[in-house]
Amino acid sequence: MTEGYLLAPSILSADFLRLGQAIQEVETAGAHWIHIDVMDGHFVPNITMGPVVVRAARRATGLPLDVHLMIADPDRYLEAFSEAGADSLTVHVEAAGHLHRTLEQIHKLGLNAGVALNPATPAGQILEVLPFLDLVLVMTVEPGYAGQSFIPETLRKVEQFREWRNAGRTRARIEVDGGITAETAPLAARAGAEVFVAASAIFEHVGGVRAGVQAILGALELKPIQE
Ligand code: DX5
Ligand code: ZN
Repeated sequence: MTEGYLLAPSILSADFLRLGQAIQEVETAGAHWIHIDVMDGHFVPNITMGPVVVRAARRATGLPLDVHLMIADPDRYLEAFSEAGADSLTVHVEAAGHLHRTLEQIHKLGLNAGVALNPATPAGQILEVLPFLDLVLVMTVEPGYAGQSFIPETLRKVEQFREWRNAGRTRARIEVDGGITAETAPLAARAGAEVFVAASAIFEHVGGVRAGVQAILGALELKPIQE
């Protein structure tokens, strides 16, 4: 694994009337992945988007689509999101009853497999599946909404995953999601994060989307991972 950073704008805060252009704008500005937040009104209180939007996003960009499933019983939908064009599927450990089987299914579909942890979930909860992960997503806010404040205490978990990665216990890239801005991204990077998800800091940046992307990349002193 090469050292570096990936920026994954979350379209949750994009203008859905012009989603295609919004995605193209972040791509042109230097984003590496497109993060898609799927919420079902059960696992989290909010309801957002499903495979239809993933399929539309697929037509707008060649960038990897990083699909974050904040849904109960994710197994039921893995195939639908795969067919829609997802490149990686991340499920919540709190929502998956048989996590190993879920990860196996994601890999059988030919996709990268990730697990997300809520702020209150300890890193050790996924110790046994570390060898099967391509991505570990540390929630730095409670999932459900864009625009919440970063919880700095979650960085201890990022440090723990980095330690396990360095010790060869996993190949998983470490992703942070929630309250990521030009101020908080460097803190997460210092703790060991490599993939940075941001919705409001990019799509609601006062200077526009391009400025939002560049502010975070600039704060990280861009070192993209060679994919
Ligand atoms: C939160 C989602 C995040 C969210 C981040 O439930 O998983 O991806 O969109 O939004 P910001 O960057 O505004 O905190
Ligand atoms: Zn997310």
